[in-house]
This record gives sequence, C-alpha cells and structure tokens, in this order.
Amino acid sequence: MKKLQLLAVGSLLALCLAGCSEKDEIDRKVDELLSKMTLREKIGQMHQVSGAGTHAEEAAAKGEVGSILNCVDPAEINAVQRAAVEQSRLGIPVIVGRDVIHGFRTIFPIPLGLAATFDPELVEQGARVAAIEATASGVHWTFSPMLDIARDSRWGRVAEGSGEDPYLDTQMGVAMVRGYQGDDFADPTSMAACIKHFVGYGAAEGGRDYNSTMISERSLRNTYFPAFKACVDAGALTLMTSFNEIDGIPSTGNDFLLKDVLRQEWGFDGMVVTDWNSSGEMVAHGFAKDLKHATELSVNAGVDMDMMSFGYISYIEELVKEGKIKEETIDNAVRNILKLKFRLGLFDNPYVDVDASARVDYAPEHLAAAKQSAVESAILLQNDNDVLPLDKARTILVTGPMADAPYDQLGTWAFDGQSEHTVTPLQALRECYEVIYEPGLAYSRDRDTKDFAKVRAAAQRADAAVVFVGEEAILSGEAHSLSSLNLQGAQSELIAEVRKSGKPVVVVVIAGRPLTIERDLANCDAMLYAFHPGTMGGEALADLIKGKAVPSGKSPMTFLRDAGQAPFYYNHNNTGRPCNGTETLLEDIPMKAGQTSLGCTSYYLDSGYGPLFPFGYGLSYTTFEYGNITLEKTALGKDDTIVVEFDLSNTGKRDGVEVVQLYTRDLVGSVVRPVKELRRFERVALAAGETKHIRMELPVAELAFWNRDMQYVVEPGDFQLWVAGDSASGEAYPFSVE
Ligand code: BGC
Repeated sequence: MKKLQLLAVGSLLALCLAGCSEKDEIDRKVDELLSKMTLREKIGQMHQVSGAGTHAEEAAAKGEVGSILNCVDPAEINAVQRAAVEQSRLGIPVIVGRDVIHGFRTIFPIPLGLAATFDPELVEQGARVAAIEATASGVHWTFSPMLDIARDSRWGRVAEGSGEDPYLDTQMGVAMVRGYQGDDFADPTSMAACIKHFVGYGAAEGGRDYNSTMISERSLRNTYFPAFKACVDAGALTLMTSFNEIDGIPSTGNDFLLKDVLRQEWGFDGMVVTDWNSSGEMVAHGFAKDLKHATELSVNAGVDMDMMSFGYISYIEELVKEGKIKEETIDNAVRNILKLKFRLGLFDNPYVDVDASARVDYAPEHLAAAKQSAVESAILLQNDNDVLPLDKARTILVTGPMADAPYDQLGTWAFDGQSEHTVTPLQALRECYEVIYEPGLAYSRDRDTKDFAKVRAAAQRADAAVVFVGEEAILSGEAHSLSSLNLQGAQSELIAEVRKSGKPVVVVVIAGRPLTIERDLANCDAMLYAFHPGTMGGEALADLIKGKAVPSGKSPMTFLRDAGQAPFYYNHNNTGRPCNGTETLLEDIPMKAGQTSLGCTSYYLDSGYGPLFPFGYGLSYTTFEYGNITLEKTALGKDDTIVVEFDLSNTGKRDGVEVVQLYTRDLVGSVVRPVKELRRFERVALAAGETKHIRMELPVAELAFWNRDMQYVVEPGDFQLWVAGDSASGEAYPFSVE
C-alpha cells in the first residue's frame, strides 16, 4: 500500500515537473521574444480587428495586429497568417477569434437550453464538437462561455448563458471550458475559451441591454464571481470584460475587478480582452473624456487586448511617452498575449489545412451529440391526461410559425450554422406521422390571422394538433430586450383557435428565453418548452412527441406569470414580511378596503407571489418519488461532509430520467442568506417501477459565503436541506454546523 502511495506521489511530482518546466519554457520564450520587440510591435499585439482581407494582411505584415475576429475562411485566415509569420519582422502569428457560442457548424441548443439539460458531461461533449469544427476552419479562440447570471428574462442575452443559479452556471461554464480547451492546449483541435462578460452584465437595469448595474461587493462575491473563479481554476485561457458599469465604474476600466480580484486573489495568468469597443464606450458612459483617456484607463486597469476600439493602436505610444502608461504595463499585457499564442502552439502550427473542415463539419457523431442535447434540453411544463407522448395518433396537424423555420430554430449567435443542414420539426414529424401542415402564421411576429380558418378545418381531420410557437432567432440575444414576454404576433390566438377543435393540443415553444405562457397553457393539454434547439432540434422534438425519447429538462430560470415580476429568482433573500399564502389578490379586494387589510407582505396584487414555474422544474412521461430521506449526521463540524441518502423511485409506466436536486438554506447569518441554494444535482436514469438508492455528499466547507466582515467562512448555526425534483418541492431536513 505504502509503495503504491509513493508511486502515486512520484508520478504526481513528475507530472508537475513536466507541467512546470513546460510553463518555464514558455515564459522563457515569451521573455526572449519580448526583449526583441519595439514598442510599436508590442502595441500591435494588443490590437484586435474584425475581418481578414488586404487591410488585415497589411497590418499583420507590419506587426500591427495581434488578433483578428469574424473570419472563418481558412484561405483568408492563412493569408493574414502568412503576412504575420512570413512578412513581419518577428514572425508572430495572429490569433483568430470567433463567437462559437453553441456550436460552430453543427448548432447545439442555445446555452440556456444546454443549462436545462443539467448534464455537464453532455455540455462538455458539445463544446468539444464545437472546437473540433471551429479549429478545422482556422478559429483558435472562442468568446464563450458566457457566465452572466441572468435573473430577468426581458434581457435578450439570457439565451446565451446558464440562467439564474451560480452553481448551475459554474458547472456548465467549467464543462464548456474543458470541452473547448481539451486536455492539451497545443492540440490542433483545442480552442481557447473566453469567459465573459466580467462582470455583472446580466444584472442590467430593467433587463435593458448594456444598462447600469448596482451590485455590492458581497453580492459580486457570493453570486456573480463563483462561476468565473471556478473557470479560472479550470484553466480558462482568456477573459472578456463587460459593457456595463457597476456602481459607476465600467468593467473595462475597473482595476479592482481586473487586478485585485482576477490577478491577485485568483492568480489568473491568462489574457484579458475588452468586449467590442467597450474601452471606447467609456467615453459615452462619461467615465473617460476621449478615446485616448479611455485607452489609458483600460490599459492601466489591466486589459491586455483591445477589441475594436482602435484606441490602443492609436494612443498607447503617446501615453507611454507622456508617462501615463508605464512600459512595464505594456510588457505585462504583451506577455499575456504571447503566452497564449505559445500555449496554443501557434508558433509551431500557424496555418490551417484548407480541406480540414470538409472532413469534420456535421460529422455523424456531432449531429448525434447535438440531437441528444436537444432531447435533454426540452422541458415538459404540462401534460394533462398524459396526452404526450402522441404514440397512438396516426394523423396530426402541424401548425405554427416555428414548425418549419430552419434558420430561426438555430437561435442567436449561430453565425456559422448553415440552415440547409437544419432538421425542422415538420421534416422529422413527417417521418413518424401522416402530417397535415398548415402554418397559420408566417413568422412569430405575424399578426395576420387570415389562414386561421384553414388551420381550424385541418384540425378536424387530425387525431391531434401540435402547435410550434415561440420566437424568431432575432428576438433574443444581444440588444434584444423585450418589455413584454408574451408570445409575439397572433401566436396565442392561433393556439386558442386550435383549441376550439376539441382535439388534443400539444404546444411546443421554441424560444430564446422563458416567456410568459400562462394563458397559452390554459389553451393546450401539453406544453414542451424547447428553447432554440439547434440543427437537430426537429429530430429531437419528434422523438419526444412520439415517445421514442422522454423529457428530462429542468428550468434553468424561473418562469414568470407576467413580465412585471422580473427580476425574479428562486435563491432570493427573505424580506421581513415574507408571503404567507393568505394574501388578498386584486379581484378579492372589497371596495373602500382599509389600508392594512391586504396582508402587508411582499407580493403583487395582480400576479400574486409565486412564479408560474420555479427554477429546476420539469415533468417527465413518468413520475418520481423521493423516499426514506436520511442524513447520516445532523450535527456536523466545519470539516465534515454532509451525507444524504434516499430512495428514488420511478412510479410511472415509462423509463425516465430524473434530475435530482439538493438545496440548502442557512437559517441565520451575519448577513441575510438566500431562502434556498442549489448545491448538487445528478441525472438519474430509472426504468419503469425501478427504485435506486441515492447517496449525495456535500462538504460543509461549501456552505461558506462572504459574510458581514467580508470573510469567506462557514458560519456555525442551523441549516435546512432538501432533495427534490425542483426548487419549490420537498421537505426541509434540519442539520446544524458547529
Ligand atoms: C458581444 C460579445 C462578443 C463580441 C464579439 C460583443 O458585441 O457582447 O459577447 O463576444 O461582440 O463578437
């Protein structure tokens, strides 16, 4: 045994030495190269431009550009690279960036959909597929994952992240970083990840994109930082700053975030890039008086590379001469950039094989992973009388603007996905049923109801109707905020029209965010919420509708009754007047009611207190029961591990997968603590009638938080624990920590 242990320690040491010496070797090469560079060449490395072509080639030949983005043509990329490597004085390759957000050619569900899978392994696999395809086209660096906590579905960019919960966000972010970067950075299929947007971008006031935020340091640390910190620990190679300001300080000029926290506390040794013109935008914020001043502020805050402000290339030289930026600061930035290029093996392997993409794009295993992701991302929100799956129906009506929308089902940020490869639900359902197709509406915002009569007539001839509604791709993503979250156009009217047929009605929502669909639920028997499901969405949805696959997705964001409830999230703090269920609603208020008659708790008179569906919610075609829940110990020390065991039974007639969720609550803290926090989750597959004994562990140390003294500690006291299928179910089990 001892011998084995010694061997293990020995090989660990060898590994570490190999890792260390590789690191030293890169540092040595970086320093050597840096010592040969002129100030102008250094500044060139800090400058990123969009597109290839003559202009980029000329800049590369002069050593005046370090990176390009938005070019995925291998021949054009090679041309810029040739200029950089063969014509510039020092032959430093450019790094090619691209927004590969949920797949490159094979498009996976939007990240919010991926989060709904609660399946980090599958998400890692998807990111690997994206890296294989993107690197084959010459992309070295993706601007993903987006780790912005999003608690307000009016913000269009909720589509691009993992939703409202820091733990889920962390698991998904780390999985993506691993998938993109692979095991070996220098492998030609490894692509650098860029964790973004640092930080707080999702907290934009009113859900209006780019808007101001007011986030305390404690909430940054407790809520917004954890996913970034975990991805830094997982080796994320780059980080992007955010557009927003926090308490008056734009992130791109925030040295507390970029130096004190990121570099000093977390030891990040990667590269920091601005968001698109976010350095220049500090002028519009009124934080910098002009582009030169903005440049001074961002460089001195620790931002290494400028994406599209053109401030670095224009003003750094002057600013150094004037003594406003130290040359040492420039050297540090350039070190980070060169290190990234050495780590990725770009000096040894700068060119892309122009035929490589033809070999890997849309490979069968890529399509299979995309399909599985789309299956797992769909959330079953309602299934009255077990209408789904439609395994007995022969003829179905397929209607709605999203049934055959190959471009729109790819969702936002799907630049390189080609819609001719998309399988739409209509195409896939035609393989399983006699389909009568009457779209009813041409696109999601269409208000023209002239074809409704045809839809109604067609419904009469079908055994059941499936209505595909939602959002076109353009309605979510960057700069696509909405103040109403109802279905656009006449889509709700279409559902109501189909309902009149008296046939079973299944609604499938294909959208970029959780919409307010309460009125639509009332007009259908079943609803599947698919988000934008990507290239293979059609096959995935047809399998779910037919019953070849069983829904297992769970909501990564709270579904609201009304947009006016936003922001709304399960892990909120309690008020001094929490709702107690006896509140009076609008319609019950008597005329001339006395001022204090309404209960005086925290709720809305019109939409009440609760959401439409809580975080973590999702049904299946079967049912699950949690039994015999026991905690191994209920009095624990700070170094202990909480162990909870229980029996999970599939009590229905179909095989299925349950996403088991473990939540805790810290009852009393030196600062108010959230009413619940997700701590663990696990996908458990159970055959019909099967029971499995589940054991989950949670080190007490993970209950730590940033407390009143701004220390990261576990405060002793009483806690509660839940294991359940969503954030609003289950019974609380008490335990204490000494
Ligand atoms: C977005 C980033 C993106 C960048 C480059 C910006 O507008 O905010 O998320 O990575 O553009 O395309």
